[in-house]
Amino acid sequence: MILITGAKGLLGQEFVHRIPATEVLSPSKEELDITSWHSLQNYVRGKKIDFIINCAADRYAEIIQEHPGQSRAVSIDGPRNLAEFARDNGAALIHFSTDYVFDGKSNIPYKEQDPTGPLSAYAQLKRLGEEAVLKAGGTVLVIRTAWLFSAYGKDFVKTIRSLAQKNKEIRVVFDQVGSPCYAGDLARWVVGILPQIKSGTREIYHLTNEGVCSWYDLAYLTVKGFGLATQVVPIHTHEYPQKAIRPHYSVLDKSKIKRDFNLQLRHYSEGLNECIQQILRNEME
Ligand SMILES: NC(=O)c1ccc[n+]([C@@H]2O[C@H](COP(=O)([O-])OP(=O)(O)OC[C@H]3O[C@@H](n4cnc5c(N)ncnc54)[C@H](OP(=O)(O)O)[C@@H]3O)[C@@H](O)[C@H]2O)c1
Repeated sequence: MILITGAKGLLGQEFVHRIPATEVLSPSKEELDITSWHSLQNYVRGKKIDFIINCAADRYAEIIQEHPGQSRAVSIDGPRNLAEFARDNGAALIHFSTDYVFDGKSNIPYKEQDPTGPLSAYAQLKRLGEEAVLKAGGTVLVIRTAWLFSAYGKDFVKTIRSLAQKNKEIRVVFDQVGSPCYAGDLARWVVGILPQIKSGTREIYHLTNEGVCSWYDLAYLTVKGFGLATQVVPIHTHEYPQKAIRPHYSVLDKSKIKRDFNLQLRHYSEGLNECIQQILRNEME
């Protein structure tokens, strides 16, 4: 069985939609709180878990910047609980992290072994979460992904669409450059590589769609994709001040995961088109 934690979130739902119902467990936070060892033990009792895909997280960087202590448990202790459970029960853990662990001073796509330099409390906690799961031992893949958009949950694409529907002009930063990723593609790729994960593997991998862009570019394509006429205006980061500092450059190099798992990735614009179609289909239901 595949256990999805944080199954009601953006990425969690994409996984649940891509795994046959007979093979997946998708508890709510109330049914399985990863920060509680007791809750974890209670939930898994009598179940044979082969893989844990940890999508449980607190990812709202602005709030975390103000109250980092409140996110520690879900970012570090919860993932450690899952890693220790997986280790002791012969399961593999897939844990997600972020491009924001890097400081953005590079202008070459970041590789897994490059030094990290988190700029925000969210990024710092995610980095500590990576370390905690890798230290636990067992079989662990830390997958750093970035700029997720999805047909489910709260995301950039739906936010931009909503703003564009209400305004003649929207202003979006063009001086933060990264690797967007359609969460549906990410889920599909991760499910595809599960059977290839060797016992005892403990690795970090970078995984997003192909292609590089700024938030402005992604907003522009989103507005066009929904057939809206709203003007998208590029602005500098300082014109949209935020409490949590984001790296100016956080493009991820995916060579390692493509090589180790023979993965073929597609461009984010293809993922975006599929995501937009799925959002429109969801509205018809
Ligand atoms: N979204 C992005 O752009 C992005 C980019 C890079 C990396 N990531 C990483 O990708 C992963 C998935 O993120 P996401 O975007 O899917 O986040 P999300 O939409 O916020 O989903 C996280 C889910 O985890 C649940 N949760 C929170 N605390 C929990 C706990 N103690 N036990 C069990 N579940 C708990 C949340 O429930 P409540 O909502 O009820 O609290 C929510 O359903 C995270 O590791 C994130 O850091 C995301």
